[in-house]
Amino acid sequence: MKKILIVDDDKAMGEMCKELLTSRGYTSDIVTSGREAIEKILPNNEIYSIVLTDLAMPDMDGMEVLKKVKQKNSPIDVIVMTSYGTVTNAVEAMKLGATDYITKPFKRDELVIVIEKILRMQRLEGEVDRLRSELGEKYTFGNIIGESSKMKKIYDIISNVSNTEANILIQGETGTGKELVAMAIHYNSARKDRPFVKVDCAALAETLLESELFGHEKGAFTGATKDRTGRFRMADRGTIFLDEIGNIPLTVQAKLLRVLQDSEFESVGSDHPIRVDVRIVAATNINLEDHVEKSLFRRDLFYRLNVIRIFLPPLRERIDDVPMLVSHFLSLHNKKNRKTIEGITREALHRLMSYNWPGNVRELENVIERAVILCKGKVIEPIDIPLYQEKTSFQQDFSGKPLHVLMDQVEHQIIVNTIELMDGDKEKAANALQISRASLYNKLKKHKITELL
Ligand SMILES: Nc1ncnc2c1ncn2[C@@H]1O[C@H](COP(=O)(O)OP(=O)(O)OP(=O)(O)O)[C@@H](O)[C@H]1O
Ligand SMILES: [Mg+2]
Repeated sequence: MKKILIVDDDKAMGEMCKELLTSRGYTSDIVTSGREAIEKILPNNEIYSIVLTDLAMPDMDGMEVLKKVKQKNSPIDVIVMTSYGTVTNAVEAMKLGATDYITKPFKRDELVIVIEKILRMQRLEGEVDRLRSELGEKYTFGNIIGESSKMKKIYDIISNVSNTEANILIQGETGTGKELVAMAIHYNSARKDRPFVKVDCAALAETLLESELFGHEKGAFTGATKDRTGRFRMADRGTIFLDEIGNIPLTVQAKLLRVLQDSEFESVGSDHPIRVDVRIVAATNINLEDHVEKSLFRRDLFYRLNVIRIFLPPLRERIDDVPMLVSHFLSLHNKKNRKTIEGITREALHRLMSYNWPGNVRELENVIERAVILCKGKVIEPIDIPLYQEKTSFQQDFSGKPLHVLMDQVEHQIIVNTIELMDGDKEKAANALQISRASLYNKLKKHKITELL
């Protein structure tokens, strides 16, 4: 087991901490100056998991110790001890990367609680790291997470196409990870040391988009007060990611086609052709073929872009990825919000897995972040995860059942949803449904919804 290093110029204080930690089964060492602390930590980073340091010390103070430890990017957590009335120091220390602080004089339990919280967090992180390395490349690709067969196919495609020069069209609903895939392709290609340049085609008006992509010369139009380098030029020998390609106007489509055919274009207001070597990855959440049929998108451009198409499946079609995504977002947002939520109950996970996720992974991430912030206990419970649009069970198996069974299913779902929506308050739920409390209880019994009774 790893040790705790106590740093305090006050010998008695150090001894007191050590004795306390020993009584709880933790091993620790004491030093009485910042300099000694650094000497002990830096050569063999491995043996300490926590440094508990006083702030005010002669020679090197606790803030310096903290800075030195954090400079080394070490996984050691630092707790600073401040004296009563010096909260600003504590705030400063937290900004510099201290994990927590404790104000002297403190009760024995206070120190133990802080230490245990950190050790629990370290175990959780260790577990996540272990899982991640065990899963290895198989279930993740860059920052993309998922172990469903659908995602594994996507990883195969990415690794096969990355190192080619083919243009790629990524199609998928909002929040399915199109941008992540585009980045994974770039960073797995020979172009990875050159720029990855993103252009959000939907966000810009026609003339602005044209000059954003191709640049303009000073005086090309009102407001063009100086030359501007376009994104294509910035992306030379790298990758350009054209997001929301379905929305670009026909004039810009024509110019884009020329870049794809001849690797050449002119900036706005110039007749001097510029040559670039750029790989194009485009993304859309609309059906481009429809746009082609309606003459909103050039057919020739569509063929040029669509050399390889990647269809990203919506989350509801790979619901088995939810647990892994949940644990990934849990550890991410624990860290971001300095929380130590340890997991999720089976019921809550079940709830996440029976939802239809119109906003896909982005929506799931938001739900988990919110739950991490608002969760009052150690694990996320159903009450912590209000969902925007619950899937009703009759949508799942509508066919081949008698009407009264389907009606029962709908009633069941409505009751569960309403109670959850009212944060478990059955009085409010009964009111919302305009039935009596007694009648609500009867229905809970009838549908055997015992967990809400
Ligand atoms: N498979 C995944 N693993 C981990 N994180 C994911 C995954 N898919 C999406 N995300 C996360 O969800 C969010 C949305 O992803 P991204 O921006 O790539 O989606 P998108 O398809 O481009 O959405 P939009 O069409 O709305 O632009 C990001 O925060 C991203 O990190
Ligand atoms: Mg996007």
